[in-house]
Amino acid sequence: MAVQQIAQISSNPVGERIDHDDDAAKWWMTVALFNVVVFGTFGLIAAVKMVMPGLFAGVSWLAWPRIRPAHVNGVVFGWLVPMSIAMFHYFIPRLSGAKLYGTRISQIALCIWETGVIVATLGLLNPWGGELQAGSLNPWWMTKGKEWEDYNAISNIIITVALLMVDYVIFRTIAQRRYRQIYVATWYAVGTLLWTSLVYVVGNWPGQAIDWTLHTYFGWDALPHFGFTGSNDANVNWFYGHSIVGLVATPGGIALAYYFLPKSINAPLYSHKLSIIGFWTLGAIYFWVGAHHMIYGPIPYWLQTVATVFSFLLFIPVAAAVINFLGTSRGEWHQLRNNVVFKFFIAGTVMYFLVSTQGSFEALRPVQAIVHFTDYTVGHAHLALFGFATMFAFGAALYAAPRMWKRPLYSEGIAEWSFWLAFIGITIYVVSLTAAGIYQGKLWMDYPHLPFIETVVAMVPFWHARAGGGAMMVASMVLVAFNVYKTATSPAPAETRVAAKA
Ligand code: HEM
Repeated sequence: MAVQQIAQISSNPVGERIDHDDDAAKWWMTVALFNVVVFGTFGLIAAVKMVMPGLFAGVSWLAWPRIRPAHVNGVVFGWLVPMSIAMFHYFIPRLSGAKLYGTRISQIALCIWETGVIVATLGLLNPWGGELQAGSLNPWWMTKGKEWEDYNAISNIIITVALLMVDYVIFRTIAQRRYRQIYVATWYAVGTLLWTSLVYVVGNWPGQAIDWTLHTYFGWDALPHFGFTGSNDANVNWFYGHSIVGLVATPGGIALAYYFLPKSINAPLYSHKLSIIGFWTLGAIYFWVGAHHMIYGPIPYWLQTVATVFSFLLFIPVAAAVINFLGTSRGEWHQLRNNVVFKFFIAGTVMYFLVSTQGSFEALRPVQAIVHFTDYTVGHAHLALFGFATMFAFGAALYAAPRMWKRPLYSEGIAEWSFWLAFIGITIYVVSLTAAGIYQGKLWMDYPHLPFIETVVAMVPFWHARAGGGAMMVASMVLVAFNVYKTATSPAPAETRVAAKA
């Protein structure tokens, strides 16, 4: 491959040649890939513990209730969000015809961000105290104890600061762009950053920690509370929980596909109009669907119905993206034989379609009556965040790494292995837990004729399959991280060395 092609030196409309150094993107991607291996392994440990409860029995910080939230939040805030940010740093300067504004600010933001993730993870694992102590209830340092809102309040503040710094760098870069028109990948990147900032601040508003402080140190129990309470709390909790998927991971993943899919096959985008329809409908509709997590729950019936209706309206942005990605690939299907980046994006597109359709139907009351609280939901969550978002992120990493480090990909063979391990692993994971969830729900309906423990024992074969599929997923993470590491550290091609000296 010619060095110019690898290096991606671009020129903008006013004729300036820009050599993108990509230092900030490299930092964010390196940390994200490290995190996916660590937090993915946490998920694997949790899965194996379901079939071998004695595993790490004496190690309190690896207890299931600690490692689960560390895994769930870690893969999102340690992997998916930083990886999207890494790739925004890569493609926005190229699409803007300008150098990144503030590489140093972004690198400092990354250090702050990772500190937040580490502080939060230590708070959840609590390696210092085996037993539950009074201090363990401190939501500033330990956990807020609510699903998705598990990260402690201190880390929320740290991560918010880093997020605002990233917003600043990316928006300043776009502001100094030399191309008038803003390509859709940039729209999605801007949407991702704005929605993430909004959703993160609302969902992690430290009211609960403020209330705890006032109560513990000042004995103040008087109303009003600073935190949300009762069904309002549940509503905000699931607005946040679902928005993490719909307004953070989804637009982040779609942004990557809009840039890297056409690039990887060297084809023009099928329809710009469709992409813009998808963008605005995604932003308008996703805010309303979080309450579908509380069908039959402690919120007004009409609100549950609104959430179900909006869950079906999501077909619009989903169809817009999927038609666009498949339309862009028309005439290029032969590339699936030997273009591994394309494989990741097509597999991710198919899984995006499947998981979104599944999600709409899952919001129906008769379906919820069976699958709520079952493993079906866990299968659905992984189809979204691994099958779609992580597959896109892996494809982007394998495309961008050689160009950022200005040398060829270390091994196409390892990249192929990482694709097939990821693809087969997530398929086993989702199929086994989808079947498990329906079976589990049906068994629960037999209560009280069937003792609950029998419904647990019935799940064991499915959990074995999940652990096997999960092990393949972790292997794929290790291979992608290894491939990028070896690409970054292998000797530069001779031409690049000469150019660097000159
Ligand atoms: C980047 C990859 C991954 C992502 C984004 C991810 C995401 C998630 C999410 C969102 C949940 C919460 C599910 C829910 O509450 O419905 C979860 C839970 C879980 N994940 Fe993962 N995961 C990943 C990889 C893995 C792997 C490789 C395994 C290995 C088997 C795994 C095992 C688990 C387990 C055991 C749970 C707890 C399920 C439960 O509560 O019963 N995950 N993960």
